[in-house]
Amino acid sequence: MSTQKNLWLLLSIFSLNLAIITLASDPDPVQDFCIPNPILASMIKTHHTFHTILPCKNSSEVITNDFIFSNMKTSGNFSETGLAVMPANPTNFPGLNTLGMSFARTDIEIGGINPPHFHPRATELIHVIQGKVYSGFVDSNNKVFARILEQGEVMVFPRGLVHFMMNVGDEVVTLFGSFNSQNPGLQKIPSAVFGSGIDEELLQKAFGIEF
Ligand SMILES: *[C@@H]1O[C@H](CO)[C@@H](O)[C@H](O)[C@H]1NC(C)=O
Ligand SMILES: *[C@@H]1O[C@H](CO)[C@@H](O)[C@H](O)[C@H]1NC(C)=O
Repeated sequence: MSTQKNLWLLLSIFSLNLAIITLASDPDPVQDFCIPNPILASMIKTHHTFHTILPCKNSSEVITNDFIFSNMKTSGNFSETGLAVMPANPTNFPGLNTLGMSFARTDIEIGGINPPHFHPRATELIHVIQGKVYSGFVDSNNKVFARILEQGEVMVFPRGLVHFMMNVGDEVVTLFGSFNSQNPGLQKIPSAVFGSGIDEELLQKAFGIEF
């Protein structure tokens, strides 16, 4: 192949990648903001569609508090794995609607874990505010990138990759995570595999175990 053809091929692949990257994020806003109209939002609210872009209310009715979320001063309730997650997304923080971002406060009790999970639609950036947390993710070659993070450190979990955390210190871990989607989605590996109703025979064959 001539050099020119090679260059053309490279350019085509590059622009194809760019197109995929562009399609991979939330849509760009077409106005300053879009505070969900509570009446219209409740009309289209179903279990599966609630997080999707919601219709806006008249901007003359928008107030400062639509852009402020006050429920992150304390942790949420801890689960049996010692995990408390307090998410902020357009369902509880109207100002985020259409802005392509969301946020969460995560607290982990001493010895507690955030089980392996992933977000199909967002990269996550965490910032440790307090404590020591063994934290990491696995890439699609099953290589693990993990170590203990201390207060002040930031780690990124690339979009769609399985990640996990465990409190390895002697105080509660507090960290904040931001997502580049208003609806990152959450799939927990243990419940996706063992709690979802997949045929038991298949699971036994897949994992080589007997239940
Ligand atoms: C928004 O509210 C303003 C002030 O109440 C009103 O004049 C305007 O017609 C409203 N716009 C729409 C699209 O309802
Ligand atoms: C925590 O649990 C209490 C008691 O069940 C409940 O009233 C409260 O709303 C829960 N808090 C959160 C953030 O879910």
